[in-house]
Amino acid sequence: MQPPSNPAPDSGATSVPRKPRSHFNNWISAIGAVFSAGALVSFAFLVWMDFSQREKNPYLGILTYVVVPIFLIGGIAMVLFGAWAQRRYALKHAGDRPDRWQIDFGDLKQRRYIFIFAGGGVMFLLLSAFGSYQTYHYSESTQFCGEVCHKAMNPELITYKRGAHARVDCVECHIGSGAEWFVKAKINGTHQLIAYTLDNYKRPIETPIKNLRPAQDICEKCHWPEKFHGNIDVNYLHFASDKKNTPYTARILMHVNTSAPGGPAGGIHWHVNPDNRVEYYATDDKRQDIPWMRVTNMKDGTSRTFRTEKFKSDPPAAGLRVMDCMDCHNRPAHTFPTANDSVERAMASGAISTKLPNIKRVAVQAMTQKDLTAADAPAKIAEFMKGKYADAEFAAVLPASITKVQEIFATTIFPERKADWRVYPNNIGHKDWPGCFRCHDDKHKSSAGETVRASDCTTCHTIISQGRGAELETLSAKGLKFAHPGGELDPDLTCADCHNGGIQK
Ligand code: HEC
Ligand code: HEC
Ligand code: HEC
Ligand code: HEC
Ligand code: HEC
Ligand code: HEC
Repeated sequence: MQPPSNPAPDSGATSVPRKPRSHFNNWISAIGAVFSAGALVSFAFLVWMDFSQREKNPYLGILTYVVVPIFLIGGIAMVLFGAWAQRRYALKHAGDRPDRWQIDFGDLKQRRYIFIFAGGGVMFLLLSAFGSYQTYHYSESTQFCGEVCHKAMNPELITYKRGAHARVDCVECHIGSGAEWFVKAKINGTHQLIAYTLDNYKRPIETPIKNLRPAQDICEKCHWPEKFHGNIDVNYLHFASDKKNTPYTARILMHVNTSAPGGPAGGIHWHVNPDNRVEYYATDDKRQDIPWMRVTNMKDGTSRTFRTEKFKSDPPAAGLRVMDCMDCHNRPAHTFPTANDSVERAMASGAISTKLPNIKRVAVQAMTQKDLTAADAPAKIAEFMKGKYADAEFAAVLPASITKVQEIFATTIFPERKADWRVYPNNIGHKDWPGCFRCHDDKHKSSAGETVRASDCTTCHTIISQGRGAELETLSAKGLKFAHPGGELDPDLTCADCHNGGIQK
């Protein structure tokens, strides 16, 4: 077919002027249109998923309302750009040349392209629907959070995998469902993504996380605060750092819930019973220094305030926090055990040989040498330990013990991320970090001069047996006085004044 703009010489002036062609008729705009259509199809599909799914996937929101619209906007921008470029071209060349990007159905060669293009476009639409479905499933997996997107979070992934919640997806605790949390997570997530891409995230990653969802929305989906646990029997295995590696075990009944079922709440979980509310004010970001707290009886509305002597002012209202599960169980998924604890555990299981004199101290020292990096730590640990046990009599047990210490290092201390127990305190107890003693000391007083209840050694728990060997065979229902393996205890010192998870101060 002859293009009309090139009339046959004999047709004279009768040729009909061509209808002004739309500037949108060009290849760039067409590609943009296919993009936008693909994004639109994905968007419709994802919105449908968002509304029809009972279990909400938090990342679905990011995909639906952030990623897909970016493609949509990109597509539309391309359509407009194509038209703009076409118009500019047309103005510049005032019709003296055929339009450069024009789609011409009349052109045989172009028709073939158009056909291929249309086929490709349909494929693209199908693929984008399929792709968004796949992305949706992948993004909610633990693998995505810990391994791909958040490589920076490797320590959290490793510690998570050995915790009680190893089968709970990261997003269950960190993002969850609900529009409000989604928006927060989205803002936070986008910001983190940028920080991560630019490699300028903090090492260690800061904790507590400012906008972690409240315990009611996470923990209490599976656990419930009134659950009666009764007393929980826990064994704490230790070894002295002496030549003989003298073992010391404390078997302790933790009074998690002490009330008769149905009666008034008592025991450690008293704090989270709906009848009580404990609020507190911490002066530091890690919530380790707590000079002020208020207890409210939710039934009659009465409240009492406790404060340290030094803290005279009233805390800023915005700085108050209501105590929940995570004020004690602040490491439910990512426990960074202390060097001391991991070594003692390995000694108890036989993975580190107690035939090596002073091994607890040596192993802890080997792991806490200055300036270890993940790459050179194995060699330096081996060298350090070999130096201490050069004697031939240790040759049989030394290699396995070295391997174990290297393994403990690799899974609990992350020099590149500066992450280990020293920066992530665990608030559940009081031995290596202040923990319960942040409030349960005799230093916080009410206006009437009362101290916080349960600040003696027997309210929270009873030691039913302690020591080693045969000593552990007799149990005391009444409870034993703590026989401190490190000698007489000074009542003016708290445990964490000396114990820090490494070599005792
Ligand atoms: C059982 C709930 C739970 C699960 C599951 C969970 N986390 Fe956490 N995570 C927490 C809590 C609680 C904190 C500490 C927050 C605080 O103190 O405010 C935390 C802290 C973190 C931090 C901040 C640094 C730190 O160690 O304190 C990162 C990063 C993190 N989690 C990543 C992950 C990743 C990645 C996964 C999945 C592999 C995951 N989390 C699974 C509850 C959880
Ligand atoms: C998706 C369900 C789920 C969520 C959400 C969840 N947990 Fe758990 N949690 C479990 C299960 C199941 C166990 C028992 C695991 C076992 O016995 O091995 C458990 C065990 C525990 C234990 C005792 C076991 C231990 O060794 O530590 C504590 C404490 C605990 N959870 C606290 C929390 C806290 C605090 C949160 C909120 C940050 C939370 N959980 C969120 C399901 C959940
Ligand atoms: C933020 C401050 C704070 C922290 C941290 C804290 N508590 Fe308490 N706890 C209180 C207050 C306040 C009371 C009520 C004191 C009173 O009424 O005199 C209380 C009461 C108790 C009681 C008595 C409950 C009853 O039977 O009436 C026990 C037991 C207890 N706490 C154990 C613990 C343990 C264990 C930890 C650490 C894992 C801990 N607390 C951490 C503030 C705290
Ligand atoms: C005042 C601190 C404190 C608070 C607040 C607290 N817990 Fe506990 N919880 C403990 C202690 C201490 C234990 C005893 C086990 C231990 O020492 O590790 C315990 C035990 C548990 C156990 C049983 C663990 C086992 O080994 O069987 C679960 C589950 C649990 N808590 C969940 C929760 C949940 C869910 C919340 C919030 C609703 C909560 N806790 C609030 C201190 C606390
Ligand atoms: C406010 C409650 C509370 C008070 C008061 C308290 N403890 Fe504890 N204690 C705990 C909790 C909770 C743990 C469990 C920590 C854990 O599970 O890791 C614990 C653990 C221990 C352990 C075992 C620690 C380990 O790692 O081997 C010893 C020993 C101990 N307490 C001794 C004492 C002595 C001695 C006193 C008095 C000076 C005392 N406790 C006062 C709550 C308390
Ligand atoms: C004056 C410093 C000091 C204070 C305060 C102190 N300890 Fe110790 N503790 C030591 C020393 C030193 C050892 C011996 C260390 C060794 O042999 O590894 C020790 C050993 C221990 C051990 C056995 C070995 C180990 O490292 O786990 C336990 C358990 C223990 N102390 C618990 C406590 C508890 C609980 C408190 C608080 C009620 C406390 N200590 C207060 C200095 C102290």
